[in-house]
Amino acid sequence: MVSESKHVLLVYFSGSGSTEAISEMLGTRLAEMEYKVTMVDLSISTKAEVIDDFQLIVFGTPTYHCSPPRTVMDFINKISYQKNNKRVFLFCTYGLYPGNNIRTIAKKLLSKNITCIGYMGIRGPASDATMMFPQWIQFMYRYEKGTKQKLENAVKQMKEAFSSKNPGQKIPSFKWYAPFDYIPNQIFARRKFINQYSNRIALINERWDGKPIQCPRNCWRIINEKAVYNAKGCEFCMRCIHRTLNKAVVFSSKMIDRARLDKEFYKKRKIEIDSV
Ligand SMILES: Cc1cc2nc3c(=O)[nH]c(=O)nc-3n(C[C@H](O)[C@H](O)[C@H](O)COP(=O)(O)O)c2cc1C
Ligand code: SF4
Repeated sequence: MVSESKHVLLVYFSGSGSTEAISEMLGTRLAEMEYKVTMVDLSISTKAEVIDDFQLIVFGTPTYHCSPPRTVMDFINKISYQKNNKRVFLFCTYGLYPGNNIRTIAKKLLSKNITCIGYMGIRGPASDATMMFPQWIQFMYRYEKGTKQKLENAVKQMKEAFSSKNPGQKIPSFKWYAPFDYIPNQIFARRKFINQYSNRIALINERWDGKPIQCPRNCWRIINEKAVYNAKGCEFCMRCIHRTLNKAVVFSSKMIDRARLDKEFYKKRKIEIDSV
């Protein structure tokens, strides 16, 4: 029987699957330390009440335009103020630079009486850049060198902070230089991604295997045996682009045949990380 203090909710949002891969690796490590881990893959349908039965939470998110994804912030906004304080370990994945992503989430959770007791950022495959930039840029397909060590340090921190009487609050300081990136990234890139690319998402019918297309925001539905896409609500997380078999979902002619960051891709990266 696992004691109450060893129950952990590991909740994450993931587009292509990078944050999911890191979540699975953390989950395995926590289970090895005899934590009972409940994993929740966030979508717009996830109810805020999933956190109710847990005092200890691990929360994972990608970085989109130096910020948390909309699906993550919408979920946190739905959480009501917690009468009993909860503890959260936050982590984010990113392709190049996470800006103030973790800080934004930590502060929002604190306003719900959920205290950040540790955090980590992992640079890994860039789900956006791999579909847009020249493919010879190899680092955009890899996790940073110290990933295994970071994972080990993270679970060590969790163990200490989860069992400590007073673990204190840990929130990354505001990166004053991050806003310099906001105009090109949050205004121009986001506008391009959401207004242009998401409107161009399309299915190549001959490649489609007929199975439902995964979307955390319910933008894809099967109607009369056809996959129908509705751009309203799409946050360009790129799940449908990376995870649909046979590269059946595309958003531009340039990326039609590019290798996707799919389950197989992340399985190989996880083996590489573990084999260091
Ligand atoms: C719409 C979009 C915006 C992104 N913006 C950033 C960014 O501002 N900074 C960054 O370092 N990586 C950025 N990335 C890359 C992702 O943060 C990175 O690949 C992440 O690990 C993806 O995780 P996921 O597969 O779990 O969604 C972006 C990716 C997408 C799809
Ligand atoms: S339609 Fe595709 S890119 Fe848009 S939110 Fe859904 S899975 Fe993500």
